[in-house]
Amino acid sequence: MIETEDMEFEVAPRIITPENITDDGDIEMTLRPQTLHEYIGQDKVKENLAVYIAAAKKRSEPLDHVLLYGPPGLGKTTLSAIIAHELGVNLRVTTGPAIEKPGDLVSLLTSLSDNDVLFIDEIHRLSRAVEEILYPALEDRVIDIIIGKGPAARSIRMDLKPFTLIGATTRAGQLSAPLRDRFGVIQRLELYTTEQLTDIVRRSAMILGIPCETDGAAEIAGRARGTPRIANRLLKRVRDFADVMGNGQITRQIANIALSRLEIDPLGLDSLDRRMLDMIIKGYGGGPVGLETLASAIGEEAVTIEDVCEPFLMQLGFLGRTPRGRCATRLAYEHLGYAMPENAAGAMSGQMSLFGDNADSAGNAE
Ligand code: ADE
Repeated sequence: MIETEDMEFEVAPRIITPENITDDGDIEMTLRPQTLHEYIGQDKVKENLAVYIAAAKKRSEPLDHVLLYGPPGLGKTTLSAIIAHELGVNLRVTTGPAIEKPGDLVSLLTSLSDNDVLFIDEIHRLSRAVEEILYPALEDRVIDIIIGKGPAARSIRMDLKPFTLIGATTRAGQLSAPLRDRFGVIQRLELYTTEQLTDIVRRSAMILGIPCETDGAAEIAGRARGTPRIANRLLKRVRDFADVMGNGQITRQIANIALSRLEIDPLGLDSLDRRMLDMIIKGYGGGPVGLETLASAIGEEAVTIEDVCEPFLMQLGFLGRTPRGRCATRLAYEHLGYAMPENAAGAMSGQMSLFGDNADSAGNAE
């Protein structure tokens, strides 16, 4: 419900339409695939979406509401643009924090055309009041607006055009149950394999006109921590080294030199990953140590550790979670060149979930 004196609503800021999506000159935008066919990786997600999109088109219905979740940089925004493109409808892009008031969401919803896609990034950051507008909008395609205040207030129900909401979040666990339940399609995006990232780097190099040997692309891919956004960023930095120190061609040797200079090690750990593991090992005897304690010990935000460092370190098997906190594993000790004491918590791997996927369930032993 919305309380307002009149029916004039402010337009939500930071709304990007399909026309201006590539307008900001960002190279990342030019590298984005436009179709499911061009999109590399996330095969299960792609296969399922292809069926849902084809079915919706066949029935001339909107696609059911979609929730995409997973670590940052894996292509949630890209996929939503592809879904709109494949459906042949407009895409509206906004973020949870940008929708400050219920009226912002109302103006967005009422301006959509038939079967349009509304993409809300960081959907876990919507306020309660805004979320409550969404429930009937998602379920019954209506919004309830209260006009006026006090005893004179009247409630008006407005019908909406059919639409699809795509919500994206790095933290599915923080979504309220009523909101989560209103998504018909829920897909988790996984970290990419080195082979997939090699293909992505080669594709990006081709689009940007950068000569790039397969070995050079593989070197960049292997250090991009499973994330296309990082792979593309590294490609641009390695190109700088290739232009200045070589003949412009990205080879394995040039990539090696550049990535060492960027302090990204052969497995893709950067200085923050190493600082974090170092603190667990040297500061807390290998763990367990609670997330907040660890975050303040290394002067980093807990969300960065949780969303950026941990998925990758857990995939490598370097980090474990126990009910009492984070632990460094034997592999982490070995990678950093430390001897592991026999009584370290990480040695007792049976108690840990090395590959657990519930980011909110473990590790806050404060
Ligand atoms: N660029 C960034 N992500 C990509 C992907 N998944 N496929 C192809 N190109 C990309």
